[in-house]
Amino acid sequence: MGRGNAIPVTGLFRLAILWLFAAVSLAAAPALAGPNAHEGVASCAGSTCHSRPAATGVAVRQNELITWQDPSSVAGAHSRAWRVLTEARGEAIAARLGLGPAEKAAACLGCHADPAPVALRGARFQMSDGVTCESCHGASGGWIASHTAVDATHAGNVARGMVALDDPKARANRCLDCHFGGAGPDQFVTHQIMAAGHPRIAFELDLFTSLQRHHDVDADYLSRHKTAASGVKTWAVGQALALNRALTLYSAPGRDTGGVFPEFYFFDCQSCHRQISDDPKFRPAAEPNPGRPVPVGMAPFNDENMIMLSAAAKVAAPGQAARFEADSRAFHAALGKDRAGAFRAASALAGSSRALGDAFAGRAFGRAETLAILDNVLSGEVARRYTDYAGSTQAVMAADTLLSSLVAERQVDRAQAARIRPDLDRAYRAVRDPNSFRPAELRAALAEVAQAVRGLK
Ligand code: HEC
Ligand code: HEC
Ligand code: HEC
Ligand code: HEC
Repeated sequence: MGRGNAIPVTGLFRLAILWLFAAVSLAAAPALAGPNAHEGVASCAGSTCHSRPAATGVAVRQNELITWQDPSSVAGAHSRAWRVLTEARGEAIAARLGLGPAEKAAACLGCHADPAPVALRGARFQMSDGVTCESCHGASGGWIASHTAVDATHAGNVARGMVALDDPKARANRCLDCHFGGAGPDQFVTHQIMAAGHPRIAFELDLFTSLQRHHDVDADYLSRHKTAASGVKTWAVGQALALNRALTLYSAPGRDTGGVFPEFYFFDCQSCHRQISDDPKFRPAAEPNPGRPVPVGMAPFNDENMIMLSAAAKVAAPGQAARFEADSRAFHAALGKDRAGAFRAASALAGSSRALGDAFAGRAFGRAETLAILDNVLSGEVARRYTDYAGSTQAVMAADTLLSSLVAERQVDRAQAARIRPDLDRAYRAVRDPNSFRPAELRAALAEVAQAVRGLK
């Protein structure tokens, strides 16, 4: 992962098929299935719409579809999301769970496609499109015809059902439905699905936005009164809503695996998946964690977002930082006692994370603040909490995102930031493999990044 990925424009063969398809179905003049209809990706295609070969559009790039289906990079991952269900790994997961073919299993389609109810499928809807334009931008039946009108406005589109993805909160909630889990029954990767072979789910809103980015925040974008949140703000809001989502789902009735165990998905994976040994020289690998009062031998709740929020709150919401810290610790401690208390503490922490999200969304982040948050992420009290893989991965993604934000906001010179890249790459290498992860190595790599970042001031 990382932002270095170039996004070459290829895939012309698949594009040609879509064009052909679009032309055929235009001739067939599909009946609209109403304002909530999912019209399918082919409805967005066409050289006057979103599948130009290059980004030559006046208002928007108009080659969004080409980026979405780019076969050579992660930018095209969403167009492949249905297809991976039909491939060996996808089928093996579903077979292990007794679900039948993965591409027909509701438990997989909820995140790997746009499973609209049959009555809401427009004429060009295809499940095999995978995660579609409408999976993120919303069902287009209410706005597909009107959003290209000369007098169309962003607010008008949103009123007709387009999702306001420019708003970091709305975007975070949309992505998290699949990149963590949603409230519906078919948007959740239980630990059973993980144990059947599903990859781990890691997410950071701003980095992942940039990896599949197909828009420019330019004068035209701003003239349409769209929110242009900086990378640091998007990151901070994303952290707050990710924690809020985890806690809300954790406390939701019926989110249990059944049996006597809680749903393991919410807990730190490595805490259970460590090596054991009878060798007299063996020493337990789990390190004490100052931010997490959890008795030794117990699985801690995955605290990756809590750690990031702790770094951000001290700078960007100082009035709320102490309460957030206290609620985090109380939640960890409550998990060592009883379920009712844990749910109460989860609810309190969910409230303070929501409040942090509101505070971050409502303020601007200057150069000094972004550098201070970055310093908090990389060193001091916060860095001592990188004892486990998930939190450490978040730290590396945060460093990448915050540096990129400083460059994008012209608060740090691009060449200066590029000099930090080798240190950052070393940190990425330290979290490449969860099984060979060594916290001390990661912390050393982050300390080098921290030193280089201090050189920027
Ligand atoms: C909560 C949403 C969600 C559900 C439900 C879900 N997945 Fe996934 N799946 C994802 C995400 C997100 C990724 C990408 C993870 C990453 O790389 O960050 C993924 C990745 C995968 C991959 C790897 C794809 C690749 O490019 O290598 C396979 C295979 C897969 N899922 C199969 C399944 C199957 C089979 C099911 C049903 C049993 C399922 N998924 C259910 C969200 C989900
Ligand atoms: C994974 C979610 C996702 C998918 C899938 C997706 N988009 Fe986007 N799209 C975004 C985000 C996030 C933005 C940036 C925020 C914004 O301006 O709305 C964006 C921006 C855009 C913009 C620029 C808007 C502007 O005002 O400048 C267009 C046009 C667009 N997308 C079209 C498409 C089309 C067409 C597809 C399908 C081929 C698609 N998108 C698929 C998330 C997605
Ligand atoms: C409907 C579910 C869904 C939504 C909504 C969604 N994604 Fe995804 N996303 C997936 C799945 C499933 C994959 C894995 C596909 C694969 O690897 O084949 C994925 C993969 C990705 C990848 C590639 C990751 C990798 O490691 O290969 C990025 C980047 C990404 N999503 C960003 C976003 C962003 C940003 C948003 C919100 C604007 C978003 N996604 C919304 C389901 C979704
Ligand atoms: C509370 C302890 C616990 C936590 C936390 C936990 N697991 Fe597990 N995991 C287990 C148990 C128990 C099994 C079943 C082992 C068996 O069947 O032999 C298992 C099995 C697995 C397997 C299958 C291993 C194999 O080789 O068969 C995978 C993969 C897995 N877990 C992934 C994860 C991921 C990813 C997470 C974090 C999101 C996670 N686990 C969190 C206890 C845990």
